Amino acid sequence: MTRRAVVTGASSGIGEAVVRALRASGWDAVGVARRADRLAALDAEVGSVSFAADLSREADVAALAAHLAASGPVHALVHVAGGARGADRVEDGDPAHWRWMFEANVLSAQLVTAALLPLLREGIRSGGGHADTVFVTSTAAQTAYAGGAGYNAAKAGESMLVHALRLELNGEPIRVVEIAPGMVHTEEFTRNRLGGDQTAADKLYEGVEHPLVADDVADVIAYALNTPGHVNLDLVTMRPVAQSAQHLLARGPLAPRPAE
Ligand SMILES: NC(=O)c1ccc[n+]([C@@H]2O[C@H](COP(=O)([O-])OP(=O)(O)OC[C@H]3O[C@@H](n4cnc5c(N)ncnc54)[C@H](OP(=O)(O)O)[C@@H]3O)[C@@H](O)[C@H]2O)c1
Repeated sequence: MTRRAVVTGASSGIGEAVVRALRASGWDAVGVARRADRLAALDAEVGSVSFAADLSREADVAALAAHLAASGPVHALVHVAGGARGADRVEDGDPAHWRWMFEANVLSAQLVTAALLPLLREGIRSGGGHADTVFVTSTAAQTAYAGGAGYNAAKAGESMLVHALRLELNGEPIRVVEIAPGMVHTEEFTRNRLGGDQTAADKLYEGVEHPLVADDVADVIAYALNTPGHVNLDLVTMRPVAQSAQHLLARGPLAPRPAE
């Protein structure tokens, strides 16, 4: 049986890479995001079937669920959509940015999960054996950093949703996987965070030898989904080797310590 995954955030970065990785390993994939033109281009390239939706809107999420119910079984939800806005101190934080981050990372995760769980259960009943949920949170969910509070709080909120969900689904054959990446060099994430300032975005990655790229995260997600259905990767924290911690990033070439 061909398994079908719903991948949110599929119009760019990690989500797009997940659609590619899943298609390459034999999955059917439904990419979801707001920008229909980018989704359509991906569909044409890899044979996914997209659905344009704003996941912060209940009506859009309901329409997505109805579309999925009418178009075949769903075996996996990979929730990648989200992001950061601003890098301000708490005292200077823009309430609109904070609201956006909670909508994009926490509330949409709840909406999509609630809407798709009945479909995932139906996929199990109709022969799928098990179902999967995967959430891309962040190392920002684990460690605060100055200027990160809004994103730290939102991603920690999403991570707690994942923890609670795993407890609530105990007794059902539904895996709940959290992937927490550190620095991933994607095209839009930092630029969007910094108000469209490409120069400032480039500076963040300057001199960092091999930040993670979207394909690195997608490979791990595909691995998690392709392991036998009884194996649950609760939490995978992944960083570039150059980033030992949120606050400890090596810039410049990585090299062994000189011999004594
Ligand atoms: N890049 C990093 O360093 C990094 C590190 C750790 C974790 N993460 C997390 O990984 C995820 C993907 O990051 P990325 O680097 O791939 O960023 P990205 O390229 O900016 O991707 C964000 C995706 O989310 C979608 N999205 C945002 N709001 C949405 C909404 N209301 N409804 C539907 N889709 C929405 C966007 O699509 P549309 O704009 O077309 O709607 C886009 O496809 C995010 O959750 C991010 O927080 C990123």
